Amino acid sequence: MTTNHTNLVHGGREDLRRLGVHALPVDLSTTYPLAGLESGTACLDVLVEGQASADNPVYARLLNPTVQRFEQSLASVEAAQAAVAFSSGMAALTACILALRERGSHIVAVRPVYGTSDHLLDSGLLGNEVRWVRASEVGDAIRPDTAMVMIETPANPTLTLIDIEAVVRQAGDVPVLVDSTFATPILQQPLRHGAAMVLHSATKFLGGHGDVIGGVVACSDEIARCLRRVRVATGALLHPWAAYLLHRSMPTLKLRVERAQSVATVLARRLAADPRVDKVHWPGFNDFPGAELLGHQMRGPGSVLAFEMPGGHTCAARLIESVRLMTPAVSLGSVDTLIQHPAALTHRVMDESERADCGINPGLIRLSVGLEEPDDLWADLDQALTAATSTTRVA
Ligand SMILES: Cc1ncc(COP(=O)(O)O)c(C=O)c1O
Repeated sequence: MTTNHTNLVHGGREDLRRLGVHALPVDLSTTYPLAGLESGTACLDVLVEGQASADNPVYARLLNPTVQRFEQSLASVEAAQAAVAFSSGMAALTACILALRERGSHIVAVRPVYGTSDHLLDSGLLGNEVRWVRASEVGDAIRPDTAMVMIETPANPTLTLIDIEAVVRQAGDVPVLVDSTFATPILQQPLRHGAAMVLHSATKFLGGHGDVIGGVVACSDEIARCLRRVRVATGALLHPWAAYLLHRSMPTLKLRVERAQSVATVLARRLAADPRVDKVHWPGFNDFPGAELLGHQMRGPGSVLAFEMPGGHTCAARLIESVRLMTPAVSLGSVDTLIQHPAALTHRVMDESERADCGINPGLIRLSVGLEEPDDLWADLDQALTAATSTTRVA
């Protein structure tokens, strides 16, 4: 199945007609009456083993029908056998690391990735070891105990693009995890390019309205079973209200992603032509590294961009403090435009030298473009650029 509007509107809703309802039902039960002890035990056993469903969910940490419907919707738009939903994007990444521990504790990863993902891998908090390499060096870094390769493309916050197929070739039989949060399944379906797992911080574009935290991994049935086993044991199931909100947002995903992308196109071009800005990072420019992946790996450049201010941290901070229409806040993928400073916020947890190595400079600003009128957003950016650059000159 592809990410067309019909699929987005109808995915995961197959049982609604049988249930006699039109809107998605929210099941808030924490426990379920059992028909008999023997049948209850049988259901418990299959769910603890990571099966996708059972006649009775037994207990809500094991299975929830509202979450299951969202998972079916996401699996269909990622062209995956299965999807497993978690309480956050970080819970989803944690489960991936734990689920593959049987293969080993070594992870090969390419920077940049989201700051907290970097921290989770780098700190060894989950008993893993990480080797950071460039995308072309993945093959050389693989060891017999390498459990997985992790990449993020487009990467947070520099929009760096990675050729998924080239990484998969180097990884051999080691599963490749792609964080595809920035692209969404509308612009990129990593499983079609050989990735074993695709991860979304559902908090971002999938939710799209800044009111839900969640994470989801699309993958094979086999990996999904391992992920569910971890989820049952660690208690990281997505809450059914969150699943309802995420599923409710799916029918408009393509509309939102395409509209935001067209607004971002206007802003990216105006920023690139503006002498007050040093450099704009956006995959839509022909000379952006990896731009040739557009049309093959990606259907479009997306709506997150980053730009560098000549006056470094001071100038970037002044700009972010000067916006009036845009919201100065972390997160991304919402209907409204969000602007933030990666070195001070989302990637603060990294060492300064590690940040510098992957291009997260003090003057770098990340912009997640929303659905507003491009001229209104530009007017806001224009006055903020003036405020930021005139202050820097005086200083
Ligand atoms: C690319 C990316 N991956 C993962 C995460 C973590 O997701 P969450 O905040 O839902 O735990 C984020 C959060 O910003 C992100 O930007």
